[in-house]
Amino acid sequence: MPSEADVKEAYHQWYYNSEVWQEVKFLGVPCYKSVSDMWNYQEILAELKPSLIVEFGTRFGGSALFFSVMGRAVNPDLKVLSVDISHEDVYPQVLLDSAIQLATGSSSDPVIAARIAKMRALFPGKVFFILDSDHTKSHVLAELELLRIVIQSGDYVIVEDGNINGHPVLPGWGEGPYEAVEEYFARYPDDYTIETEREGKFGFTFAPKGFLRKN
Ligand SMILES: C[S@@+](CC[C@H](N)C(=O)[O-])C[C@H]1O[C@@H](n2cnc3c(N)ncnc32)[C@H](O)[C@@H]1O
Repeated sequence: MPSEADVKEAYHQWYYNSEVWQEVKFLGVPCYKSVSDMWNYQEILAELKPSLIVEFGTRFGGSALFFSVMGRAVNPDLKVLSVDISHEDVYPQVLLDSAIQLATGSSSDPVIAARIAKMRALFPGKVFFILDSDHTKSHVLAELELLRIVIQSGDYVIVEDGNINGHPVLPGWGEGPYEAVEEYFARYPDDYTIETEREGKFGFTFAPKGFLRKN
């Protein structure tokens, strides 16, 4: 009889290695995520009721659309800022969503921090951040450092794809988001609380150690 931990890991490995996550769509737009993570995000949004959602990594725009629809269900005035080095793959219905603003550039560029600060001033309230762009350790660390300029107590940060590099998928990928979070906590142990119970709620997550509430 396999243990509960073995069953959870086997499902995680199947979900990741089958690449079914590349078949996930929200309202017809591809959204490269674990669907149970998306449900978890929806639960966080319902509690947080943010005025602004900031996403690093737009790709097709399915996740930006998800955050816009779910976020506006709990706060009709919500805005979404989605940052990517290229927006050429974004689906037309995402471009038609007036709550979504796209910023083209690198998510570690100080220009992006200035844009976030400006939007915070225009739309006061809590902010939900999600880091899903370049998954190298150095880039994710740079994003987390950039957030230090704009983040406030009570905000929420998701660091996606910490499951790569053997946590438990893609062993040998190289240091990524998981190692970036570890390094960040070595630098700033008191910045965030990791919500491990929430991250484990549905058995597996693409964001291990990546559900962070700002202290
Ligand atoms: C995994 S995809 C995003 C998926 C999307 N969030 C979703 O859930 O469907 C990663 C995206 O990050 C973008 N990207 C890569 N390096 C980046 C950087 N330095 N700054 C911002 N975006 C970057 C890529 O162009 C790509 O569109």
